[in-house]
Amino acid sequence: MTADSGKLAAIVLAAGESRRMRSARAKVLHEVAGVTVIGRVLRAVAALGVEPLVVVVGRQAPRVEAAVRTALAGVCRPVFALQEEARGTGDAARCGLEQLGAGFCGDVLLVYGDMARLSAATLRAFVARHQVAQAGLSFASVVVEAAGAYGRVLRGAEGRVRAIVEARDASAAELAVREVNAGLYLGRVEVLAPALAGLQCHNAQGEYYLTDVVASALAAGFTVEAMRFDDAALFAGVNSREELTEMEAQIRREINRRLMAAGVTLHDPATTYIDETVEIGPDVEIGPNVQLLGRTRIGAETRIEGTAFLRDVEVGPRCHLKFGLRAEQCNVGEGCEIGPFAHLRPGTVLEGRNRVGNFVETKMARLGRNTKASHLSYLGDVVVGPDTNIGCGVITVNFDGFAKHPTRIGARCMVGCDSQLVAPVTVGDDVYVASGTTVLRDVGAGSLVMSEHAQRERPGWTAKWRRRHGAPAPAGSGRADAPQE
Ligand code: UD1
Ligand code: CA
Repeated sequence: MTADSGKLAAIVLAAGESRRMRSARAKVLHEVAGVTVIGRVLRAVAALGVEPLVVVVGRQAPRVEAAVRTALAGVCRPVFALQEEARGTGDAARCGLEQLGAGFCGDVLLVYGDMARLSAATLRAFVARHQVAQAGLSFASVVVEAAGAYGRVLRGAEGRVRAIVEARDASAAELAVREVNAGLYLGRVEVLAPALAGLQCHNAQGEYYLTDVVASALAAGFTVEAMRFDDAALFAGVNSREELTEMEAQIRREINRRLMAAGVTLHDPATTYIDETVEIGPDVEIGPNVQLLGRTRIGAETRIEGTAFLRDVEVGPRCHLKFGLRAEQCNVGEGCEIGPFAHLRPGTVLEGRNRVGNFVETKMARLGRNTKASHLSYLGDVVVGPDTNIGCGVITVNFDGFAKHPTRIGARCMVGCDSQLVAPVTVGDDVYVASGTTVLRDVGAGSLVMSEHAQRERPGWTAKWRRRHGAPAPAGSGRADAPQE
């Protein structure tokens, strides 16, 4: 026994080709409920306090490494091993083992990088059972209805494990076995190292299989135990788009259950899509068809009616988000009323008690407290003071064809309907902008500003126009130009 003998190292395999995904993106980079597959696996593994945590990368190595660093930021510093060519899980494990260095002496946990539902609790249970069994090598197994492409666990006399055989190399009798290899291994480095070094690739796929360490460790005289676990779903790997979708559905159900238990009402969990990274306060109410993604946070007692897409949005307490909202990278203060059918683009900040009504689009827009834009507006690159009313159809004309320019509107203003503010322009506090005004120059505080449009009227014009086009006078009207509804 050396000082190192109690150490637990982990090697996570994430270098595979993942052909079954049919994706230009490495499988482990696909996201499940807002977290990458590899990120989910690493979170569970890192929670065990393993040292070192080795990640074997290959396909799209730089991107996978970046995702690994993101997932482990502030948790631990991973060590990377490069598998130049995807020659199988056994070869990948060998690459990982090299990173442990010759001096390493202790237990090594081997984990496939596609087991996206793996949890720290599952891993701890596995490690504990291995320690109790005092086996040279342990691996996790599960019993499934349809064993599909999983490796089959072969047992001999008295149920002792003999080997794992991959589905593609299995006989018909072996294929009928429903106990399968889950994808977790744990053994002392002196058991694993020689077993990995001796791997052959004489099999249907011409690959070095990690599964073959079972038979070689047994042949070398070590004990090997298969630790059978009940809940197969917790060990599932992601191999295809269908499996990715199924796993996402399971994880979403879990997230939704957790939220409901914490005091959030979900009117239709089946159509509520909430990333794991989202935080939701108590007594929030969420209607059907809602996506809350990324770093979104929803304050207590806020109500989301339904059909909403929010990514990286911070929403304060007691807001009312009405039917039909799309918002990204914005900050919505307390007590705001938004929608129906509003579009809050990045950089929108609503300071609180704002109203942003139907068909209003905002971008890089800061609205002071209690400022309202209730109908049909475009507010871009604008700062508006508090208690201002933006009338229907107001537009900040922020783009001159080459550059964007800012608009500033003061506090307590009334910006009349159908006005345009041609940026760069500043409107002072307490300004009245008459409806239909095109504001071209700065306006001083307290002013009324208007564009002169002389109004002209030609009596009887409509009847003449209609006669010229041969149209009959509208039925029941005394005059051809009587006001119509
Ligand atoms: C593997 C097991 C199978 C088990 C199943 C459990 C082998 C040979 N088979 O099959 O017995 O039932 O997992 O989910 O181990 N990888 C590399 N380099 C490679 C190949 C793979 O790093 O050269 C990585 C992949 O990125 C992946 C993991 O190893 O994260 C597992 O590879 P995968 O191809 O998914 O193995 P399965 O065919 O599912
Ligand atoms: Ca797999």
